[in-house]
Amino acid sequence: MRVTLRVRRYNPEVARDPWWQDFDLESDPRARVLDLLHQAKWYHDGTLTLRRSCAHAVCGSDTMMINGHNRLACKVLVEDVAPVIVCEPIRGLPVIKDLIVDMEPFFRSLESVKSWLINEEPPPNSERLQSPEERERFDEGTKCILCAACTTSCPIFWANDEYVGPAAIVNAHRFTFDSRDRGAAERLEVLADRTGVFKCRTTFNCTSVCPRDIPVTELIQEMKRAITFGKI
Ligand code: SF4
Ligand code: FES
Repeated sequence: MRVTLRVRRYNPEVARDPWWQDFDLESDPRARVLDLLHQAKWYHDGTLTLRRSCAHAVCGSDTMMINGHNRLACKVLVEDVAPVIVCEPIRGLPVIKDLIVDMEPFFRSLESVKSWLINEEPPPNSERLQSPEERERFDEGTKCILCAACTTSCPIFWANDEYVGPAAIVNAHRFTFDSRDRGAAERLEVLADRTGVFKCRTTFNCTSVCPRDIPVTELIQEMKRAITFGKI
């Protein structure tokens, strides 16, 4: 099938403002948008710049806006978005070049909420045991691939980049509800702050774009409840 791939280009070394470039391409309908971007870059314009790695919806590095929605380019079939496929960088993070944004603020937010296991107790001789029910409690958050689709589709984040954003809250939830973790109090203190969970206005954009089907809004609500009632 013939498709038009329309890409928002930006290169501060060439022009101050972004511009649009169209590529008229022949594509297998079952190819993915990432294949089209490769075709454009490898055979038409080598200056086109994008970030990707696994090409199998695992690494989270090729998140972009495709026809107005945050998606992984390696997961979207051409036939589902053709004939005009518009690719833009995700919103709310500085664009470095073309489809590549600076992820540094996103990772800083993750760090600020201490999204890692905190436990100073001496480790037992074998594993820190956990029941299947305890493991189940934080299962959804473990599926996150840190693609930033949720955070950069959140209108609160667009308006206020100090808001830690949905992805950071999902990853804080993953450890806060882990029975082996002892860091809930410090994490909840950070998230109770004015840049934390109460900035969320429950618009559900995050949940609707998550490529791993994580119920992001629900996890944010659980964190709000944990702070409000002081209980996890
Ligand atoms: S919660 Fe979903 S959308 Fe957000 S960073 Fe993780 S995988 Fe991506
Ligand atoms: S390239 Fe890894 S998720 Fe798409």
